[in-house]
Amino acid sequence: MRKLRGVLISLEGCDGCGKSTQAALLCERLAACGLPVGPASASGAVIREPGATPAGEAIRNVLLHGPSSLAPWTETLLYAAARAELVETVLLPELEAGRVLVLDRFLDSSLAYQGFARKLGVDEVLAVNEPGLHGLLPDVTLVLDVDPVVGLARSGAGDGRADRIEAEGVEFQQRVAAGFAALARRFPERVRLIDGFRDVELVAADVEAAALEAVADAGLRLGG
Ligand code: TMP
Repeated sequence: MRKLRGVLISLEGCDGCGKSTQAALLCERLAACGLPVGPASASGAVIREPGATPAGEAIRNVLLHGPSSLAPWTETLLYAAARAELVETVLLPELEAGRVLVLDRFLDSSLAYQGFARKLGVDEVLAVNEPGLHGLLPDVTLVLDVDPVVGLARSGAGDGRADRIEAEGVEFQQRVAAGFAALARRFPERVRLIDGFRDVELVAADVEAAALEAVADAGLRLGG
């Protein structure tokens, strides 16, 4: 694997856990510390998954708003394909350039949603993602832990705009949340659970502290 000088931070959790809000706040706070946040061409921006590349956004559309039924492995391979495109065309070059990247979902979503909730198996889902990852894993993965029932009500499902995954319902989201908890136990050095069922500012403070720890571990000096 190539030597990377940047930092990769992923935010995860079940639908409606608040990670998109937290990802945006984290970018603002890291940038305020003087760090080079986001891709150079979109400084300060969160990178969303699936998406953030032309192919990734097209694949996202199929996954979330396309045919109402997709075979589980079709779904899994489409997420992996969007991820492979993102890794090769955005993440690796930006990390080589020393950028600090904040991802709104990454590999662990596939492990929790497809591996656990769709019951395809974590190792099996990891195996089909590996060729596209080129050895890349986040420096830290922060999972916002919320009650999946509350999360689903806060998501598009709460106001009748559920996408294909949100439409799977509460039991599916409960398996997703259990999956993320299992991932935190299996990869304790990388995956951390953060109580997301608190005031936005309190959650943001914990997210920022964990992210800054990862930046410090990666040896980046905080600028002015
Ligand atoms: P978002 O709406 O939070 O951006 O995520 C898109 C949806 O896709 C969300 O319901 C989670 C789901 N998803 C998976 O099932 N597997 C994956 O690998 C990723 C990245 C997202």
